Amino acid sequence: MKGVILVGGLGTRLAPMTRVTNKHLLPVGRFPMVYYPLHALTEAGIEEVILVTGGNSCGSFLELLHDGSEFGLKTLYYAFQHAPRGIADALRLAEAFVNGDDCIVMLGDNIVDGSLRPFVDNFRSQGGGARVLLKEVPDPERFGVPEFGPDQRITRIIEKPPHPPSSYAVMGVYAYDADLWDILPGLQLSERGQYEITDVNNVYLSQGRLGYDVFEHQWSDAGTPESLHRASEIAWASDFVPCPREPRA
Ligand code: DAU
Repeated sequence: MKGVILVGGLGTRLAPMTRVTNKHLLPVGRFPMVYYPLHALTEAGIEEVILVTGGNSCGSFLELLHDGSEFGLKTLYYAFQHAPRGIADALRLAEAFVNGDDCIVMLGDNIVDGSLRPFVDNFRSQGGGARVLLKEVPDPERFGVPEFGPDQRITRIIEKPPHPPSSYAVMGVYAYDADLWDILPGLQLSERGQYEITDVNNVYLSQGRLGYDVFEHQWSDAGTPESLHRASEIAWASDFVPCPREPRA
């Protein structure tokens, strides 16, 4: 199982904090934001990760994270996204690294205060397809939102719906099998000019191959001043924090 962390984009909703630096280098609690998704993946047992970056200060990730051994990673690779054309566009840059394995994808601005291991284990037991994590939120219109049928199966996912069909958000943590790489090239640009991860998930859904879990711990994204503040509150209050170790000699 490989890990993919997406830390590209321009972070415009956090300007001017992101005018000269990358959103994922901003402080959350005691650490730079990117430490949290790295910790979440390694804690779930993932030892090989690629970081897809772009935008401002993208070279700083190399200076900050080196070879990833402080997080217990066997390998940390880097890829460069030319323009912020969406999460599904950034994901394409991970294809050679993932090399036909299953992968867990995590958005670099997602902060969790509990383990992703049950989610990863459930995806393994699912036997292929894709899996998403849901969390009940007060403001679902800011996220991808699942609509449920009478049997609690997801019938579709809608990206940032003005009238959300449920009070759940699709978190920025996704599990995919190798069919992902056949789906990505077939995507169309959305109305906001991006290749949407929600479209990927809806393809798996249409094939009856999308599972989900509801996350039991706290979660926040950190893409707006308000959510960055909440992410920091979660981080300060949590024991589930990155614990860097000695780098590899
Ligand atoms: O946080 C969960 C939400 O993330 C989901 O509920 C939505 O379905 C999903 O579309 C996404 O929504 P956002 O609008 O919050 O995504 P954002 O554009 O802020 O991008 C999230 C991360 O993805 C960001 O921290 C960096 C990475 N990214 C984003 C874009 C657009 C890239 O690496 N490259 C990109 O081109």
